[in-house]
Amino acid sequence: MAKPLNPKDEERRKKLFEIADELRERTKKQVPEEGFRVVITGKGGVGKTTMTALLARLLARDGYRVLAVDEDPQMNLAHALGVPKEVRDKIIPLNRNLDYIEEKTGARPGTNWGLYFSLTPDVRDVVDRFGVVGPDGVMLLVMGSVVQAAAGCLCPENALLDAVIKYINLRKGEIILMDTQAGLEHFGRALARGFKQAVILTEPTYNSVQVAVDAAKLARQLGIEHIHLVINKVKKEAHVEKVERILNELGFNDFTTKTVIPYDEMVEEYDPEIEAILTNPESPTYRKALELKDILLRYAEQPER
Ligand SMILES: Nc1ncnc2c1ncn2[C@@H]1O[C@H](COP(=O)(O)OP(=O)(O)O)[C@@H](O)[C@H]1O
Ligand SMILES: [Mg+2]
Repeated sequence: MAKPLNPKDEERRKKLFEIADELRERTKKQVPEEGFRVVITGKGGVGKTTMTALLARLLARDGYRVLAVDEDPQMNLAHALGVPKEVRDKIIPLNRNLDYIEEKTGARPGTNWGLYFSLTPDVRDVVDRFGVVGPDGVMLLVMGSVVQAAAGCLCPENALLDAVIKYINLRKGEIILMDTQAGLEHFGRALARGFKQAVILTEPTYNSVQVAVDAAKLARQLGIEHIHLVINKVKKEAHVEKVERILNELGFNDFTTKTVIPYDEMVEEYDPEIEAILTNPESPTYRKALELKDILLRYAEQPER
């Protein structure tokens, strides 16, 4: 039989329970029950994959369940996240997983599938079957990019990826980060339904700001509520001014938040891995990624802009 607690122990136990309750309360407030979804986009090379990986790892370290989705044509999110090579080598992106596409849509890409295949395949098993668990418990799903064609492509690959996005919108209790270069155009409303926040990255170059503005306008049109701009690889103050000038010239400067990240030798040196940054809290990129993570958590709780 357990010894009865003396009054001092009893007091201490009560205190501990109080602390535990408070912690639970705080976590409950922190983790939106629905979970939330963020799309990370911008021109090729601006730092999407690096930032997606940093956010995913930092959120996972905070104790959240994180699903990172790779739709970037370069498909190096696994590498950035720190998934070991042996595991990476076995990943088949969904858009090239001919067996799965055929199993789900009834048509095999590259064959003459005719007119009949399912546009609404049931992909509820996709994360269980193809998700890969990386460092800090981050779950990764490599989708591969949509087939972009002038008039859109009514093909089984895209039907499958569309269904995956729709399915992802229904997943609860986790934070979903999607790394994509051109996904906003393709997934459009399907994406906006579940994704309430966008992180748009740009460098201090005209072209990348232009791409960022196009993406931001589209995101706004779609009704994505919070659009965060990241001005990345900034070498001097004048670069921020330049980006501001271009934004104003292009007639769009309506971002929910802006984060400026300096050019960081260490990021480039270890590219595409971010492990060195995560183990070096002194790195400016680490600190800025923390800031951005907190911004996402904060705005996840705000239904309106
Ligand atoms: N803040 C930064 N400072 C220096 N180099 C960076 C920074 N952010 C990203 N990079 C580098 O830029 C390159 C492109 O980054 P990446 O994340 O692959 O971009 P994207 O996914 O948008 O194509 C990589 O070599 C990466 O290490
Ligand atoms: Mg990338």
